[in-house]
Amino acid sequence: KLKLGVLGSGSGSNMQAILDAIDDGSLQAEIVLVLSDNEDAYILERARKVGIAAEVIDCGGYAQRFPEASQLEVAQRLKQAGVEMVCLAGFMRLVKSPLLDAFPQRILNIHPSLLPAYPGLMAWKQAVDDGATESGCTVHYVDAGMDTGPIVLQAKVPVLGDDTADSLHARIQVEEHRIYPEAIRVVAGV
Ligand code: GAR
Repeated sequence: KLKLGVLGSGSGSNMQAILDAIDDGSLQAEIVLVLSDNEDAYILERARKVGIAAEVIDCGGYAQRFPEASQLEVAQRLKQAGVEMVCLAGFMRLVKSPLLDAFPQRILNIHPSLLPAYPGLMAWKQAVDDGATESGCTVHYVDAGMDTGPIVLQAKVPVLGDDTADSLHARIQVEEHRIYPEAIRVVAGV
């Protein structure tokens, strides 16, 4: 079984979708380690509830930076756990060379827009503010840029006239939960 490591900063609904796909037998994988830069993130609790090791990443007090030492430590912990593929699931720091080099072509991210449109933070709000009529989500390989790596899968959703940032995000998340497990299957051939 493919050993997955998951990095997240928030609620972890995408990690839950991956777990659900594993449980229903549609994804031949297991999540062996969950790491979060936010000790209060619900993703940690979700993981612990089902007996998955879940640990906090120390980012040295920086709000946004992902210091090199922290990335090296994360790489080491993932390797120690036997992780073969890393899934960023709502992880809000930019992964750079120390971690990228440890898992070449083995780190995926889910982003809430049809990249290359609306990279960066709160992509769903960017779409609403921009008056877009369509948005969606993208699973892509992570490279050294911000939301720039090769695309694996995308799904579209309409933006409706009365959408708020939240209502669009909710519609996008339904598709995220469908395509993330599928993208892992595609990439890993499992
Ligand atoms: C997801 O919508 C994901 O696409 C987004 O954060 C949310 C996390 O939700 N990621 C980014 O914006 C990355 N820049 P979750 O914690 O419930 O999976």
